[in-house]
Amino acid sequence: MSYEYILTRTEGKVGIVQFNRPKALNALSPELMKETMTALEAFDADPEIGCMIVTGSDRAFAAGADIKEMAEATVVKMGQSTFINQWDRFRDIKKVVIAAVSGFALGGGCEFAMACDMIVASETAQFGQPEINLGIIPGAGGTQRMTKAVGKALSMEISINGRFLSAAEAEKYGLVNHVWPQEVMMDEAIKFAGQIADRAQIAVQAAKAAINASFEMPLSASVAHERVLFYSLFATEDQKEGMDAFVNKRKPEWKNR
Ligand code: CAA
Repeated sequence: MSYEYILTRTEGKVGIVQFNRPKALNALSPELMKETMTALEAFDADPEIGCMIVTGSDRAFAAGADIKEMAEATVVKMGQSTFINQWDRFRDIKKVVIAAVSGFALGGGCEFAMACDMIVASETAQFGQPEINLGIIPGAGGTQRMTKAVGKALSMEISINGRFLSAAEAEKYGLVNHVWPQEVMMDEAIKFAGQIADRAQIAVQAAKAAINASFEMPLSASVAHERVLFYSLFATEDQKEGMDAFVNKRKPEWKNR
């Protein structure tokens, strides 16, 4: 499939989507968002792929929703638009998606990164929800996911006073998994994603589902959900393989069955 606003490629078992609107600092137009989610769904359905990365350019992961497209919008036009619904498509993606961020991850760009399962960043990354400067608030989950990631006090400052987080701060406050120098960030991100892609995929996806459920359910329900997933893994060949490999002191060979 050919795309206008993104580039796609694979590195071994890792599927990579790169935002490609450099002149607009990868502002997330509706078309770019649709293409991105379609590409992620295609990698999700591809048995050769075990993990995905979404990245931008050195200067910008993405500088937010396209302000020029929204400037004249009415409440009716915004309500009828399916732009923000694109974020909901993350819910059905089973494989792990990692955001690899350099430069600006602002507004919808930060919200996109937070909708991924993990974020890795280069030292140049800056995270923020500057919508307040436009007379609006984050609309694609920014007030919610940021609060869950960094806590209420800092999230208030980020959405209400336009505070940006540096890569080091984002790592310190738990928004980001790893920070690497820009020159090696993508190589390290691919290595990291490759490790995940080489693991027992049914268990990886069960862990992702269980962790994400903690954002949706009360503890008693999410613990019960985890238990069902845990028991269900005893129906997989990979559980037999993993435990046999341990007992016989050899390396497991995952079948993803
Ligand atoms: N939408 C549309 N175009 C954008 C854009 C955006 N979000 N961000 C940057 N651009 C464009 C600029 O208009 C400029 O285009 P021109 O050359 O045609 O004028 C080009 O990208 C380069 O940008 P700057 O000249 O501004 O570059 P800079 O280095 O001086 O500043 C920046 C970089 C700090 C990121 C600045 O561009 C900026 O503040 N961008 C807007 C960030 C923002 O407010 N994001 C939130 C958007 S609303 C949203 O996302 C809602 C939601 O929750 C879904």
